Amino acid sequence: MNPALLTREALAQYAVESREAFEAELRTLVEIPSISADPSHQGDVRRVAEAARALFERHGGRAEVLETSGNPLIHGWFGEDPRFPTITVYNHLDVQPADEPEWTAAPFSFVVDGDTYRGRGSTDDKGPALTAFFGALAARRAGVPLNIHFLWETEEEIGSPSFEGGLHHHKGRLHTDAIVVSDTVWVTRGKPSTPAGLRGLKGFILSLETADHDLHSGVVGGAARNPLAELIKVVATMMDGETGKVKIPGFYDEVVKPSKQELEEWAHSGFSVATFKQDHMITGLRTEDPMKVMKRVWGRPTMEVHGVVGGYTGPGIKSAVPPRAEIKLSCRLVPDMDEASTMARIRAFVNEHFPDVQIHEEHGLAPFKGHVTGPYAAAIKDAYRFAFNAPCAFTREGGSIGATKTMEEVLGCEVYFLGLSLPSHGYHAPNENYDWEQASGGMAAFAHYFETVSGFQR
Ligand code: BES
Ligand code: MN
Ligand code: MN
Repeated sequence: MNPALLTREALAQYAVESREAFEAELRTLVEIPSISADPSHQGDVRRVAEAARALFERHGGRAEVLETSGNPLIHGWFGEDPRFPTITVYNHLDVQPADEPEWTAAPFSFVVDGDTYRGRGSTDDKGPALTAFFGALAARRAGVPLNIHFLWETEEEIGSPSFEGGLHHHKGRLHTDAIVVSDTVWVTRGKPSTPAGLRGLKGFILSLETADHDLHSGVVGGAARNPLAELIKVVATMMDGETGKVKIPGFYDEVVKPSKQELEEWAHSGFSVATFKQDHMITGLRTEDPMKVMKRVWGRPTMEVHGVVGGYTGPGIKSAVPPRAEIKLSCRLVPDMDEASTMARIRAFVNEHFPDVQIHEEHGLAPFKGHVTGPYAAAIKDAYRFAFNAPCAFTREGGSIGATKTMEEVLGCEVYFLGLSLPSHGYHAPNENYDWEQASGGMAAFAHYFETVSGFQR
């Protein structure tokens, strides 16, 4: 190993030298519209997997596209020396749809605007994936004695429905000492954080049909049932729209309160309500108290209404009583809640009070409880400090990554997080972006992390 290539200065120099290649590779990935939610983009999901394989081969690594019952996985690696420890970096290369009208340029054209990179998937999660990749190249160049593997998923944004099956199937080749996920956000720029937990997610749809065609609200209205109005009542009975409080009995029973020590970390994480609002471009919140905001997003479960379908919304008057309606909802879950018991409570409540409302469940994601102690957690903190010259706090994430718990269970090792995205990068938002400060610092953070963990006992 040549430690001279792993100093702060050498890695800064490495980043500058790699910038052109990094931008070219990021352009290739971002310009493939690998939208996992849209069946018409299946071919693009396949293309991004092939592009990833080619990326490894172009840079002296090896890779294979692994089939699952759904979208493929990409397993890429540098080194397979049995004497060395193995680290696996997880990212996803599928993206959210991008049909928001606010995009200032085509979402799948990669725009370089000074130090900012714009395009769908630039920060979630193609930019961080490539940053870790270039960090690995730096570590390899310095001869770090570590097998660096990558596991890139292509159906994270639809809740990883085939991931577990795929992992079981390919488990033999995926043995690793630990996993590091780069798919999370900092508190804000200059304030790195790594999650001690992620929320889970359980989606469901309520539907109600009370007739098979539009009815005249003058002729039958008053006597006829209105499915749209009834479903709105169901939602209002389940939750308070103003405070967010869920009124399903037992909903909060399994919630583990953040510990004193955790709250202490949060208080010193650099979180500010003003910055939070600015980063996310939101004007009003349910509370302006910083600790309450953090608790709500990181430590409490939610019930959210995503969409209401039914009735007439066109121009002018149409006085029909609609025959059917549908409301799409989901709950974010925190440790130690689980999808099945939460859904069972919701079902029991709806069945009791609104017996003819149908419930359709979607695939759920378990909440994740992270690890804040031990050498791997210390290595993460050290990597941030080294590369960004700032302390990193153990906070939590309000978002969900289904693969985390699955990887721990199937591969039998621990998952840690070295995320690089910022709130202002706009996960899932129009004009999603990533930037060179996070990319160049991130390469150094990953290189340093790889160096540290290469010294751990196998
Ligand atoms: N990278 C995010 C998860 C995330 C969000 C981490 C916020 C940290 C903060 C991931 O790509 C994501 O968007 N997950 C979805 C999963 C869903 C679409 C099944 C989520 O959390 O909504
Ligand atoms: Mn992501
Ligand atoms: Mn996402």
